[in-house]
Amino acid sequence: MNIPFNVPPSVAFQNGHFTAENVVKKVTRSGDLVGIFHDHAAWQAIPAQTPFYEVEMLDSPQGEGELYVGATHLHPGRVGDEFYMTRGHFHHRREQGEVYMGLRGQGLLLLQNERGEARLENVSPGSVHIIPGFTAHRLINTGTDILSALAVWPTMAGHDYAALAQGFALRVVLQEGKIQAKEVQNG
Ligand code: F6R
Ligand code: ZN
Repeated sequence: MNIPFNVPPSVAFQNGHFTAENVVKKVTRSGDLVGIFHDHAAWQAIPAQTPFYEVEMLDSPQGEGELYVGATHLHPGRVGDEFYMTRGHFHHRREQGEVYMGLRGQGLLLLQNERGEARLENVSPGSVHIIPGFTAHRLINTGTDILSALAVWPTMAGHDYAALAQGFALRVVLQEGKIQAKEVQNG
């Protein structure tokens, strides 16, 4: 009997794009990111249709134990002095963790627990990030290229954006020519 060698989906290490039959894509634009950046006037000056990031995902089966694989492609840029970033979220099922891996570009992963304690990890090609359960996460592009990161997470995890309506406790800005993390008052 000839047992076939099946061809799995693949991801290009250079740019994080998938080669697969069923790739789902979602674009997040400036206009979707209401209240995310601290310089409201600078955000309003950017046309609402400007793409900030794209997420491509393999179409996975749903259910306990099933996993999504996705790649986020976050454009470089700043809103005022603040670097482009993803909206950021807790998982709806708080105990569910996630793994990120940097593929392209340079940036930061902002992690924050439920007590509001925040920390940052450098993201670069090959960096591996274990996001524990009960931890909100956001990507920040501090470089000049697109920041691409692969992510693997449980399909049942879901997203909770509302829990971060007050924002994260840290903002990453370019001030005096330096990339700096600033604590947010009342964040
Ligand atoms: C999934 C995950 C990523 C993000 C993506 C966009 O759990 O963490 O795929 O969904 O980086 O960020 P958000 O969802 O915060 O807009
Ligand atoms: Zn997540």
